Amino acid sequence: MPLVSMRQLLDEAAKGGYGVGAFNVNNMEQIQSIMEAARETKSPVIVQASRGARSYSQDKFLYHLMLAANELYPEIPLVLHQDHGNSVATCKSAIDLGFTSVMMDGSLMEDGKTPSSFEYNVKVTREVVELAHAKGVTVEGEIGVLGGIEDGHGAGGTGLEHVTDPEQAARFVEQTGVDALAIAIGTSHGAYKFSRKPDGAVLKMDRLIEIHNLLPKVHLVMHGSSSVPQDLQDIINKYGGKLKPTWGVPVEEIQLGIRNGVRKVNVDTDNRLAITGAIRKVFAETPEKFDPRDYMKPAREAMQKVVAQRMTQFGQAGHAGDYEAIPLALMAEQYAAQPVA
Ligand code: G3H
Ligand code: 13P
Ligand code: ZN
Repeated sequence: MPLVSMRQLLDEAAKGGYGVGAFNVNNMEQIQSIMEAARETKSPVIVQASRGARSYSQDKFLYHLMLAANELYPEIPLVLHQDHGNSVATCKSAIDLGFTSVMMDGSLMEDGKTPSSFEYNVKVTREVVELAHAKGVTVEGEIGVLGGIEDGHGAGGTGLEHVTDPEQAARFVEQTGVDALAIAIGTSHGAYKFSRKPDGAVLKMDRLIEIHNLLPKVHLVMHGSSSVPQDLQDIINKYGGKLKPTWGVPVEEIQLGIRNGVRKVNVDTDNRLAITGAIRKVFAETPEKFDPRDYMKPAREAMQKVVAQRMTQFGQAGHAGDYEAIPLALMAEQYAAQPVA
């Protein structure tokens, strides 16, 4: 199966009432972990790369690793998605490289830090929709601003400063024609999301439900959705790490989101924690080892375990064989038949 458009995966997820994890990658081992987890659980897959990941992998390494994944796991519907594109140019370069989906994150200015105006967000997102849809490529937009900072990207803060306004979300979807909509409901990127188990005061699931009720057909995206499990924190700290006490997004809350229109769930931090814990353990227990395979293999296995668990929890497990890929050219024809007003 060729790399597929994210729109097709999310439409299928909506039909089946499940969510699809979108996992960040930077290297071969992370891609291998995801593909093995997908085969183990028979899951369709979204692999995503941030700007930092693209630069770390010099673009071409990443793209060709994805082609290898596609060749070695032909039974898995596989999307390559640009995470948090900061400009039209970034999204265009991803499309030119062969990504089948892009996020235009116009909630922030091009610096990836300063919250933007609604008008700016509509303008740049619409521009990306026009050039992406002409090639059958999917577009995710964002309305509202997440908390935290990853790799220099993010406005900082707790995530409660710019929670998504439902009416504004509706206008944004109508004026841009995005395929998927990321919303801000109090989550942040990174390990430090909440200082206690989150309740409705800090994790606004009621707002998500309100948005879904207003826009029942829109595929919603939850960013900052790592659960930051205590056991992964404990392994890191047991073997010399220094993580401060922290809470992530409980899986039950993500599942509530999935019952209310969430189709894409972004997870990076949990995998970073799993990898780091596994490597620290090898270093601490067998300091005489120096072959990278001795610690990269357990790291890869630890990430595979987390990814497989999330695939099962989000409900995408068992759905890899449900459909054949719609070629991007056909997706482009379908978009052309329904232009944005
Ligand atoms: O957007 C957040 C993801 O965790 C990617 O992080 O920009 O450090 O690669 P990164
Ligand atoms: P986490 O930091 O919670 O894993 O979020 C990842 C994300 O939203 C990537 O876009
Ligand atoms: Zn994100």
